[in-house]
Amino acid sequence: MDSYELFLEHLRKYLDLDLTGYKRPQMERRINTLMRTLNIGDYEQFIEILGKDKALFVRFVNHVTINVSEFFRNPTQWRILEDQHLPVLLAQNPNLKIWSAGCSTGEECYTMAMILAEKAPRGQHAILATDVDNQVLAKAQAGVYTAKIASGIPQGLLQKYFTLSGDGYQAKQELKKIITFKHHNLLRDPFPEQMDLIICRNVVIYFTEETKSILYYKFFRALRSKGILFTGSTEQIIQSREIGFESGGVFFYQRP
Ligand SMILES: C[S@@+](CC[C@H](N)C(=O)[O-])C[C@H]1O[C@@H](n2cnc3c(N)ncnc32)[C@H](O)[C@@H]1O
Repeated sequence: MDSYELFLEHLRKYLDLDLTGYKRPQMERRINTLMRTLNIGDYEQFIEILGKDKALFVRFVNHVTINVSEFFRNPTQWRILEDQHLPVLLAQNPNLKIWSAGCSTGEECYTMAMILAEKAPRGQHAILATDVDNQVLAKAQAGVYTAKIASGIPQGLLQKYFTLSGDGYQAKQELKKIITFKHHNLLRDPFPEQMDLIICRNVVIYFTEETKSILYYKFFRALRSKGILFTGSTEQIIQSREIGFESGGVFFYQRP
């Protein structure tokens, strides 16, 4: 076991943080960058400090989990979801159960909530929005964003579903009321069941091939029959047929 592996082992054992499923080169680079910024010489010293300094540990988790997100991220794909897949899902079930897995600061689940409010306002929909990082979850729950979001949300939707808040915007209760925010570790916690739609985008890219494969099987089982998994723009599932998925076009995978 080399010093990096030992560091991961200590993180898991003493601080209950398991990074073993993440790709090593990127993870190692991010950890080393933070150590350099903090002027920490080796992993042994780092693990000791992380154990003592709660605020630093939170910063560490935040740093390694990469929380970048956007409203309507890759708009063409959201348009395909809205125009092609949503009508089919709604025809099967007018009250959709949706899971935004790795929701970060909430842009993804609020995007989905806006689409539902526009396209299927009468349904009793429920969105479960989960992330392993409690700090981003708290931000998602608050639903407060800077003025910059205006460039990513169609003007009409921004006016309808957000209120002005200081220099930025806050998501309205109408969106929030259908979303449940919850801490969930994809690598450890049980998956929910009978989902109509699972949105997991730009999360698995950080995981090893082996971990990804296990997750895709679990997503498959978390969907109900005819349910759809919506992935990120760089996340094609090579073994989708082997798992049992039918392709619903690029980045959309359906459980038969
Ligand atoms: C780049 S963001 C993606 C946000 C959003 N899905 C999007 O596409 O804009 C990746 C998110 O995955 C979360 N994440 C990383 N490892 C995770 C795990 N093991 N379980 C759940 N979420 C995880 C991170 O905390 C982060 O918020």
